[in-house]
Amino acid sequence: MTGQFATGQVAAQVHIPPMPARSAGYDVVIRAGVLDELAPHAAATGAARYVIIADDNVSRLFGEAARASLQQAGLVTDLVAFPAGEAHKTRETWQRLGDRMLALGCGRDSCIIALGGGVTGDLAGFVAATFMRGVPFLQVPTTLLAMIDASVGGKTGVDTAAGKNLIGAFHAPTVVLADPRVLNTLPSRELRSGLAEAIKHGAILDAEYLAWIEEAGPALRRGDEASLEHLVRRSVEIKAGVVAEDPLEHGRRAILNFGHTVGHALEQLSAYDIPHGFAVGIGMVVEASIGEVLGITAGDVRQQLARVLRLLELPAAPGAVLAPQLFQAMLLDKKARRARPRAVLLSATGSVAPTNDGGWTHEVSEDVLAEALHSTLSGSRFV
Ligand SMILES: NC(=O)c1ccc[n+]([C@@H]2O[C@H](COP(=O)([O-])OP(=O)(O)OC[C@H]3O[C@@H](n4cnc5c(N)ncnc54)[C@H](O)[C@@H]3O)[C@@H](O)[C@H]2O)c1
Ligand SMILES: [Zn+2]
Repeated sequence: MTGQFATGQVAAQVHIPPMPARSAGYDVVIRAGVLDELAPHAAATGAARYVIIADDNVSRLFGEAARASLQQAGLVTDLVAFPAGEAHKTRETWQRLGDRMLALGCGRDSCIIALGGGVTGDLAGFVAATFMRGVPFLQVPTTLLAMIDASVGGKTGVDTAAGKNLIGAFHAPTVVLADPRVLNTLPSRELRSGLAEAIKHGAILDAEYLAWIEEAGPALRRGDEASLEHLVRRSVEIKAGVVAEDPLEHGRRAILNFGHTVGHALEQLSAYDIPHGFAVGIGMVVEASIGEVLGITAGDVRQQLARVLRLLELPAAPGAVLAPQLFQAMLLDKKARRARPRAVLLSATGSVAPTNDGGWTHEVSEDVLAEALHSTLSGSRFV
């Protein structure tokens, strides 16, 4: 039968030209009170209707007011809430949110507003990436971590039983609105957890910024609006700069993982009881110590990191963790190769040490880890 359709020479492959890029650049607007300008920013997308996605805490705190402001501006808007917490950053919640949008009658001309912390940004962003093969979305981060980290870089996704963030997509927002005023209601643990990522930004790329964080420590802890606004702006500049050089995470973007090889392992060993930023803070100190043992990191880096962390009431030492256990947990990290974990190491404050072959992560042996841990064991803990 097949011969019946043969019309002579048919090419065995057809070339499809590249699709036009979906994502233009976008702005991160950082200003106290910018949440009051949500409606005009939303309207600028030209969507026919809007869905604000928020967890139940944030929905209660800011959701109704946000919805009312959009409706007053004549925008058709729904507010959809899901239960707060990392445990709900799942495909089940993603499915429920998408189904809810379908039930509301949302089409391709809809726009999603992710109002909340990093869990909401990742989850609502992934709904936006996949609903009708992608609709525009605005990021309105309401935690410090979401403002300086999760909302910049276009990564969206959900967790699975096999690990965190394993299913997802790159999908950039149309705009990010970061209003430091909303941090007033943020619990202290959440604020401090975010501050650890800001310390990381200074540690890897800007020694002056790290010194400023130390100076502004007491004001930051008090929640001083102007200091937080400056912190968010500088951290976003640093993260955006790294992301711009390596948008799809093929190389240099790995430097944002400073403190994270050890940090993720500590989170895992604590069964995720310890907040992410706390673990990253300790991770930075241990990784500075690893760098010292390897002769890569200058001796004052670890002291400075520990001092700034303590000033911000963050833990600066790993407590009673054993090297073999930590080493095993570090092997689960995505950067591990050939049964050896790898870590980003600094040469000095504000500068990351490249490897001899131009990479950004250094191999860590169990002996080196044991020696590094030994020298960090004296230190106070605030958890
Ligand atoms: N996409 C990325 O590039 C990226 C980067 C870093 C982290 N993340 C993800 O971010 C998530 C962590 O984000 P998070 O720490 O913001 O957690 P989160 O979103 O769970 O927020 C923490 C808690 O604070 C509450 N909350 C949020 N804003 C509040 C406010 N203004 N006042 C009072 N309470 C408020 C939330 O309801 C929640 O209970 C993780 O899932 C992580 O994987 C993503
Ligand atoms: Zn982190």
